[in-house]
Amino acid sequence: MGLEKVLAFIAKLCLRGEPLALAIDKGRELGMLKGLNGDLVYSKAREFLIYYHSLSGSPRERAEKFLRGMGRPAFPEWAEKRIPRLRLEAEASIRRNYWFWVNPFKGDQDKTLREIGEKIEFERDNDFPELYRVTKGDPSKVKAFKEGRAVIQDKASFAVVKALDPKPGELIYDMASAPGVKTALMMALTEGRAEVVASELSRTRLEKELSFLKLLNVDLRKVHLIQADSRNPLIRRADKVLLDAPCSSSGMIPNDPCVLLTLTPEKVKSFSELQREMLKTAVEISNYVTYSSCSVFPEEGEELIKGFKTLRLSFGEPSGNGVRFWPSRGTQGFFISVIIDRKG
Ligand SMILES: C[S@@+](CC[C@H](N)C(=O)[O-])C[C@H]1O[C@@H](n2cnc3c(N)ncnc32)[C@H](O)[C@@H]1O
Repeated sequence: MGLEKVLAFIAKLCLRGEPLALAIDKGRELGMLKGLNGDLVYSKAREFLIYYHSLSGSPRERAEKFLRGMGRPAFPEWAEKRIPRLRLEAEASIRRNYWFWVNPFKGDQDKTLREIGEKIEFERDNDFPELYRVTKGDPSKVKAFKEGRAVIQDKASFAVVKALDPKPGELIYDMASAPGVKTALMMALTEGRAEVVASELSRTRLEKELSFLKLLNVDLRKVHLIQADSRNPLIRRADKVLLDAPCSSSGMIPNDPCVLLTLTPEKVKSFSELQREMLKTAVEISNYVTYSSCSVFPEEGEELIKGFKTLRLSFGEPSGNGVRFWPSRGTQGFFISVIIDRKG
């Protein structure tokens, strides 16, 4: 089958809300990838989805134009009009960078690091000593990651937990916890000595989180997984709260460009409303709340934090009462802020 048909098929699934990896798997199941190189389809599909909004016509027509070299990386027009730098961010999203950390709960960390070094190249991150940046190779195919001895995590997502600064003995309420990457990191950074109440609305995602934490050997006597709507708090008080909010995922383009195809102003607005409600609950539970969202829109970031007293963070690009990470700086797009007092 021609590449343009496969790309159009993938775009149609993205338009229905499927992530890219799943769309590719479906194409493979249907035999559409026969005779095509899977890695090439994946990288072409990523690029095509990032170009999608700059092309016109049906998914098939857009795929044909893309393969003829037309178009440019683009966010939807309404978004670029509001935030001009998104053009640059779309272009930067074509490249995906990887970072990882080594799991202290499984195997010997030095040995794991040596083993990874036989397959890919990496260096220690400039800001965070526990984090490594991949300089050459694809970590997703390396055994240590599949076995949970090391964890792939974007630097911006890692920075969220650094902003939370978990300490041994602290009780932490993680209000939106699945699939559990940040919960796992909180435990790793405290050598398993923090206690986390991890709540999550989606049962399926909570089950994934449980499998992930088990794979990593995280002590489940210290992590309490609960299916709940965090707008109705499960606990009255915690030393710290992490609200890694459900969001438009507009900062996740390098990770999964499918999110571009379903991005609408209404979606941004409705997530912003949900985030405001969750934040209201968060600040009642603790006077140390890390708020983060993987979105490029101020409604899901700066605008929600206006008027709060916040901590000054030593990493990221200062923006409003928080910091931002951007694809043009190599990471996913994230907003992070640490609230240390309620509105006056
Ligand atoms: C950005 S993700 C969290 C990622 C997670 N912190 C991690 O690092 O792996 C947001 C999560 O919030 C969940 N969610 C959405 N609405 C919620 C609500 N009202 N209460 C609790 N969780 C909710 C979503 O299902 C999703 O899993």
